[in-house]
Amino acid sequence: MENLEQIFEERFGTMPTGEYFAPGRINLIGEHTDYNGGNVFPAAITLGTYGVAAKREDDVVQVYSANFPEKGVISFSLAELTYDKKDDWANYPKGMICYLIEAGYEISTGLSIVFYGNIPNGAGLSSSASIELLTGVILEDLYKLKLNRLDLVKIGKKVENEFIGVNSGIMDQFAVGMGKKDQALLLDTNTLSYEVVPASFGEYVIAIMNTNKRRELADSKYNERRSECEEALRRLQTKLSINTLGDLDEATFYANSSLIDEEVLIKRAKHAVTENQRTLKAKAALEAGDLPLFGQLLNASHQSLKEDYEVTGQELDTLVTAAQQHPSTLGARMTGAGFGGCAIALVRKEGWEDFVKEVSATYLEKIGYATDIYQASIDDGARKL
Ligand code: GLA
Repeated sequence: MENLEQIFEERFGTMPTGEYFAPGRINLIGEHTDYNGGNVFPAAITLGTYGVAAKREDDVVQVYSANFPEKGVISFSLAELTYDKKDDWANYPKGMICYLIEAGYEISTGLSIVFYGNIPNGAGLSSSASIELLTGVILEDLYKLKLNRLDLVKIGKKVENEFIGVNSGIMDQFAVGMGKKDQALLLDTNTLSYEVVPASFGEYVIAIMNTNKRRELADSKYNERRSECEEALRRLQTKLSINTLGDLDEATFYANSSLIDEEVLIKRAKHAVTENQRTLKAKAALEAGDLPLFGQLLNASHQSLKEDYEVTGQELDTLVTAAQQHPSTLGARMTGAGFGGCAIALVRKEGWEDFVKEVSATYLEKIGYATDIYQASIDDGARKL
């Protein structure tokens, strides 16, 4: 923080007036269900984005990221809040300002912000939602906006969908905005009702394992999966009166899957339906303290994401298999959008060091570069510090 304040002063010649933090997130289970009206089960983590900020007197917005010093200070005026490729990462804060103003919130002057994130970039831990919600809490505080947190979450999603152009669901912004320390959030993305569930794993901890493979092409494949699910839904709707794939139980899905009439689309829909059910089972298992069952559901989720949804890839599969084969592991799966990024595992504390050693060695040997493995700590959502 002191460092960020110093950077702020160097760049902008004044001191910031507030310090803020927004977490990243892991998703325990419920992957690629949030744009299918299904359940998700994420939690905010202690890795995230820090920011220091102050209002200005003119209408200029100046942002600087200590993660991208080569990009320097990026500036734009409140009068030109449009997406601009050359503004790079600054399109996230810009989009937040744009849509908050559009929603009727009064942001009457410009501001300056210095950002610093310790979420590995492109790792599937929601660094973008973290920047969005961080900008949101900064604006909320500096301009004394009367903002309902769920509305802020929805504005973050809108930035992702309409300003940036990734057709994502609401999970990331929800987890980052609504997270609670040591709790996971079971969110029904159809109704937005949610339950807070103690993330207590007893003798076990959650490992976050980074493939260190960046998801360059993730966004286009992501949008492709989403369209495939929409097409499968349209075909099912020729007979079934459902609004989303999340409305289907497994038996009804299997009895009607021939309506889809295309193998790839059947597999995509099968994942969405079965993953939604697994999420509910996993939440019940966690509440009942049945960690072996919880672990099996993690494994089954990965299998489905690999075989039916086809969003894993060699790096994630290698990492997850290595984790699953370790005697201290109850279960492992990719987390987030996939195509690279991170996986999680439920690992016995006692075997942690050996787990890290073995999984790292296997990954290095098979993939040719290293993984990074750390223990997840579950934290509160976006806030002023
Ligand atoms: C990304 C998206 C989320 C969700 C996950 C997959 O993180 O931003 O909305 O769809 O992928 O579960």
